[in-house]
Amino acid sequence: MKKILVNGGKRLEGRVEVSGSKNAALPILFATILTGDINRIENLPDISDVRLSLEILSQMGAKIERVSNTTVEIDTRGVRPGESAYDSVRMMRGSTYILGAELGRFKYSRVGWPGGCDFGVRPIDQHIKAFHSLGAEVKNENGYITAQAERLIGAPVYLDIASVGATINAIMAACGAEGQSVIDNSAREPHVVDLANYLNSCGASIRGAGTAIIKVQSEPGAHLSGSEYAIIPDMIEAGTYMIAAAAMGGTVEITNVIPKHLEALTAKFIEMGIEVEEGDESVIVHGGRGIMHNTNVKTLPYPGFPTDMHPQMTVLLCLANGLSHMTENIFENRFRYVDELARMGANIRVEGRTAEIPGPMKLTGAPVRAVDLRAGAAMILAGLAAEGTTTIENIESIERGYDNVVGKLSSLGADIKYVE
Ligand code: EPZ
Repeated sequence: MKKILVNGGKRLEGRVEVSGSKNAALPILFATILTGDINRIENLPDISDVRLSLEILSQMGAKIERVSNTTVEIDTRGVRPGESAYDSVRMMRGSTYILGAELGRFKYSRVGWPGGCDFGVRPIDQHIKAFHSLGAEVKNENGYITAQAERLIGAPVYLDIASVGATINAIMAACGAEGQSVIDNSAREPHVVDLANYLNSCGASIRGAGTAIIKVQSEPGAHLSGSEYAIIPDMIEAGTYMIAAAAMGGTVEITNVIPKHLEALTAKFIEMGIEVEEGDESVIVHGGRGIMHNTNVKTLPYPGFPTDMHPQMTVLLCLANGLSHMTENIFENRFRYVDELARMGANIRVEGRTAEIPGPMKLTGAPVRAVDLRAGAAMILAGLAAEGTTTIENIESIERGYDNVVGKLSSLGADIKYVE
């Protein structure tokens, strides 16, 4: 079994380029189903969740042409609804987007229950509520979700939770409805905006993405056409390298970023006394300059501190001076990585939704597991900072969302490699 091995203590210097956003790529790849046309999608991250999404699309009848490892041409004219493979779909939360895309185009969808990182129940009641609001009947039987409607009628959609997935599915289904839909309490994440921008480039009329109220105008019989679109940079990958630089760095420049998307993390860096410079499309972190102060972090929907940066940030707080707190407000149990960090000497106490992190801690290398995607990234960061050798298994979960993380960290001076 392939593992990642890290010898800790190495200083990081240099420049690293961020890949396209996983959480924008997945909805946009499935949204091509709505166009029933040829699309060219660029700046895709070369990660297993993207490869799996393309595999599922071709199972459904799409024709995929790999132009490069970051560009594909997708012809969705031949897609048939209800054809996605049960076992493929259950490997990834992003598969939920097949529902909204198939329903929007065919007024019918049948998809196996989605899977995804295991940190608590991942309900889809808000997705189903959105489909109901637009006139669809939704059933959950034999492991499949089936959604269908004679016609989808534009309507108000009120989300109880600012759910990223439910907002994305509501937008896609609304693109197939007749009249105006108003999605209230929408998620405001950059990847929701990226999806809206892609669909508008295909001829949709979506206004307000990035705010809590999104309006979708769709005429009966209107259809979208394919387009060429480049995915936004991955803010979570960028934040992960910012934390690596703060923990181990000299000066590290992280390029191909949208600094505004990183504001919640940058603000915390400033609180901690870490020097950060913002360029137009880059962020420079000056690590190792003076003491890192403790701080308290609470995850919230965007523009709050992203839950997908939680495990990685906890590692940085372990290295900071003083007692810090990490409070997880989005998922019930995103703390499973704490047990793995304990193996490396981190004494973190979790009470309900809050972890107490009495830094600074001395971390020592150990054999650990990547319990989920971002937990895996945290284990790599802990390995960089630890004294001695850390081996990380179950690295498939890391490869779901990080494009060439070993190569990118090596290029900055980390002593990191794959081992069998
Ligand atoms: C997306 O998951 C991302 N996944 C997650 O990233 C990310 O952590 C999450 O958004 C929050 O930003 C993809 O984009 C593929 P939610 P999603 O619906 O859509 C509850 C990563 O590491 N909820 O915003 O599943 C839910 O249980 C992954 O890249 C309901 O109760 O997140 C959670 O507590 C991990 N009912 C909260 O809302 C619903 O119908 C937010 O979930 C839907 C969600």
